[in-house]
Amino acid sequence: MNDRCQAPEEHPQGDTAARLDVSPGRVDIWPVALDVPDAELACLAQLLSPAERARSDRLVTDQLRRRWTACRGRLRQILGRYLNTDPATIGLKYQPRGKPYLQPTAHGAQLHFNVSHSGDRAVVACAARPVGVDLELQPPAGLLVELERQILSPRELLERQRSASSDEDSNHALLTAWVCKEALAKALGVGIGGGLHAVELPSRIRQDAWFRPTRIDPAILLQIDDDGTCGRTGWCDASFWQIRLLGNVIPNRAAAAVAVPVGIDEMRLVSIWDGAARA
Ligand SMILES: CC(C)(COP(=O)(O)OP(=O)(O)OC[C@H]1O[C@@H](n2cnc3c(N)ncnc32)[C@H](O)[C@@H]1OP(=O)(O)O)[C@@H](O)C(=O)NCCC(=O)NCCS
Repeated sequence: MNDRCQAPEEHPQGDTAARLDVSPGRVDIWPVALDVPDAELACLAQLLSPAERARSDRLVTDQLRRRWTACRGRLRQILGRYLNTDPATIGLKYQPRGKPYLQPTAHGAQLHFNVSHSGDRAVVACAARPVGVDLELQPPAGLLVELERQILSPRELLERQRSASSDEDSNHALLTAWVCKEALAKALGVGIGGGLHAVELPSRIRQDAWFRPTRIDPAILLQIDDDGTCGRTGWCDASFWQIRLLGNVIPNRAAAAVAVPVGIDEMRLVSIWDGAARA
């Protein structure tokens, strides 16, 4: 972690934070709090590139500017821990649909990451292979219901209408489906432009285990600005991916999920300050 941006009492390991490695079979999950004290925010702001500062300036409220700056600063700190480099010098690139990424090193290794923010929270996921993460604080029930046709496929809509669960359970199930599908769409890099209903999930989603999507509508794949990876590696197939809920990193009334290729079976929750595994 960059020492410039943290109070000493919050830094349990002294001045030198150790470099972190990404393991081929593991995804690291970093929960991030976005409401930080002024001095820390000023420090995080210094890590941003001129383009990032300009982007922050364009946000319409002070709260949005503060949180976006904190999020991008923290993201840079986290990436700096893996790359063993000054966070301010990291060069982020963007895929055509906006997914930020890092170029592979000269040796071909690549650190993949994705970030999601909602309200005063964010989650950063880092892995050796493509990864997507989504976090949503509970929206008003009315809005959720309005969105259900965008979130669910026709089959899933039918199942939802037949289910006898309470409104509260049913709304949480919808929010859960939303974050799982958006995490996968973000792993693919398409975002929600392809329609979340294009991804189908099993009827029962385990809270504490990896599960696979049951289908990805080929229509969503038309959205992928593909460099040939899809065909070569099969990563456009539903069977390539698995998803897991992040129930342990989020506050009540929120949902979060991560999507990674099958084979990444370990999930490590990492503290923002010491890089130590906590769960
Ligand atoms: C990405 C997207 C799903 C974000 O939705 P959201 O719920 O509002 O936001 P989240 O907090 O979960 O994620 C935002 C982060 O995801 C990342 N991101 C942006 N675009 C992404 C994409 N296509 N795929 C994966 N991740 C993306 C960014 O890091 C972004 O954070 P930042 O704005 O601070 O850089 C949504 O903006 C989207 O669908 N974008 C694609 C737009 C598109 O197709 N454009 C056409 C090309 S012009």
